[in-house]
Amino acid sequence: MSSIAKAGRLAGKVAIVTGGGSGYGAGIAKLFAEQGAKVVVADINEDGGKRTVAAMPDSMRFHKTNVAKESDWKRLVEASQMAFGSINCLVNNAGTTYRNKGRLQIYNHMRVTQLMPIAADARGY
Ligand SMILES: NC(=O)c1ccc[n+]([C@@H]2O[C@H](COP(=O)([O-])OP(=O)(O)OC[C@H]3O[C@@H](n4cnc5c(N)ncnc54)[C@H](O)[C@@H]3O)[C@@H](O)[C@H]2O)c1
Repeated sequence: MSSIAKAGRLAGKVAIVTGGGSGYGAGIAKLFAEQGAKVVVADINEDGGKRTVAAMPDSMRFHKTNVAKESDWKRLVEASQMAFGSINCLVNNAGTTYRNKGRLQIYNHMRVTQLMPIAADARGY
């Protein structure tokens, strides 16, 4: 068995996975739970987040979160500690992109409306 496949590598750990309602984040959240972690899935998309948690409801909780809002982070941390105790790990994966549009048009719009708030919040501004 490879070290990646070895079960229980995250037993006793508590992780928050932002953007856990879809794509990479959903995969990371499930893998962490399979490896024994307790996982809080934090996503702005309630349906997606709940879908992820439904895969392993004993090990995961969903918390609706907009990572661009500081007040949401405070509530997320409090809810995670209430559910599972001390937090050991943050996978700050939430993000967004456009598909099938001109690159300059996308960049100018996203830079102001989506990327800057998320980046600024992640850096503590
Ligand atoms: N897929 C790729 O090819 C690729 C390449 C490079 C980087 N990334 C990055 O990896 C991360 C995950 O990508 P993915 O393909 O799984 O994307 P995805 O769209 O499938 O998942 C992103 C998740 O983040 C959530 N989200 C978006 N804005 C949020 C916010 N403000 N607060 C909370 N949740 C929010 C969405 O609801 C969604 O569930 C993103 O940050 C993306 O930019 C992806």
